[in-house]
Amino acid sequence: MSILIKNGVLVTAEEMAEKDILLEGEKIIAIKDEFLSKEIPEKTKIIDADGNYILPGIIDAHTHYFMKSPPNNVTADDFYSGSISAAFGGVTTFIDYAEQQKGHSIIEAFINRLEEAKGNAAIDYSFHQSVCSLYHDIKEDLKELKDGGVNSLKLFTTYKEDGSMLDKEDWLELLKMSRDLKLLVTVHAEDDEMIDQIKIKYKDREEFPPYYHTLLRPPEVEYSAIKEIGDMAKLLDMPIYIAHLSSKKGYRALKEIKKSGGKIFAETTPHYLLLTEDLLKKEDAQKYFMTPPLRNKEDNEALWEALKDKYISVIDTDHCSYTTEQKFLSSNCLGILAGIPGSETLLPLVYSYGVGRGYFNVKNMVNLLSTNPAKIFGLYPEKGSLGVGTDADLVIFDPKKEIIISDSGQHTAAGYTPFSGFKVKGYPITTILRGKIIVNNNRFYGERGGGKFLKGKESALY
Ligand code: URP
Ligand code: ZN
Repeated sequence: MSILIKNGVLVTAEEMAEKDILLEGEKIIAIKDEFLSKEIPEKTKIIDADGNYILPGIIDAHTHYFMKSPPNNVTADDFYSGSISAAFGGVTTFIDYAEQQKGHSIIEAFINRLEEAKGNAAIDYSFHQSVCSLYHDIKEDLKELKDGGVNSLKLFTTYKEDGSMLDKEDWLELLKMSRDLKLLVTVHAEDDEMIDQIKIKYKDREEFPPYYHTLLRPPEVEYSAIKEIGDMAKLLDMPIYIAHLSSKKGYRALKEIKKSGGKIFAETTPHYLLLTEDLLKKEDAQKYFMTPPLRNKEDNEALWEALKDKYISVIDTDHCSYTTEQKFLSSNCLGILAGIPGSETLLPLVYSYGVGRGYFNVKNMVNLLSTNPAKIFGLYPEKGSLGVGTDADLVIFDPKKEIIISDSGQHTAAGYTPFSGFKVKGYPITTILRGKIIVNNNRFYGERGGGKFLKGKESALY
């Protein structure tokens, strides 16, 4: 089936122009100022974009759909509900995590994750592989993983208690193997030893209300971990990518590494740009609880400036949703399930508060939300661009549509959004995945299993 999108303003990372776009099957087959009627195939569906923007499909490069939280919890959004919610926000690709379990191989984790997503995701997807322990033939497995289409790893410098952290003495070895195989290492950067030291200060406390999360994991902890891993990568002359940069101090560490010649890159998320730690003092603090914790206004501002100055390459969400019932299971910051929903609100928030307040223009926004993640995680140009021959993943975005974000307007199984009450101007109205309309005017037309696994190529950062 062919679709012709007329009267739209096509926006890519490089250009912004009034163009008509012809889609056939799963691909974009032609882009022109205007098509003559003889150039339009029979039975083509015509969409009048009415002056709205046509953007490449958004890539949420950091999600945790259907994530198990031992002993007996699992995130509210599975691959189906998570990807539906994402599609309503103009997201056509997500990159989730295959998580190695201690004592098990990374290949096992990857195969399990493929099985869990297959037949469920409604949009396209790829995976990062987290590594929590090395074993004697892991390098062969990393090579196999790369051949299977995974080109990025995740290293946790924290979460020793739950087994996610890779032993510190193994960091260098993992980095060396990754450099040899040209795998991009992404890092959850918080200094676990510093956190343990801080905890000693509070050893006599019995109660740890949610706000203590900010005291136990202050920005210094992020600064220290970024410096340590950044210096290690610099020594090895390899790129390193910091996940969910949260603070002004963390940003300072990144700048210091970069200015001294390190190839360091980072992502941040709307919650570190727009929410502040005082929310953790409210009665419903758990709804705003994630790791690293929220910071203050000065940190928000520093991260916007970092985006403006192009020190941060990607905005994604760390979507890790739990229902309020799950969140309120504990009021102790050492026990609250960490993570919040975010995929659906990514594009409207970044447009309204990033473009809307003049931190960057629409082309730069496309870079941050689609083109850069596609390049960094090996999905470009099929994803992240609007060129002839690329996947027909598009968003029709109305820059004038005003909405107040509300819990009931969201499609996440979490049942709430931490951005409830935020006013946005600019909202996606149509989402097209590989030539198929999956969301239009607030209705979902996609299908369970309509998304496919994308084999990533080598990261553009190598
Ligand atoms: O609180 C968060 N961010 N949960 C998800 C896991 C992680 O640390 O990325
Ligand atoms: Zn993380």
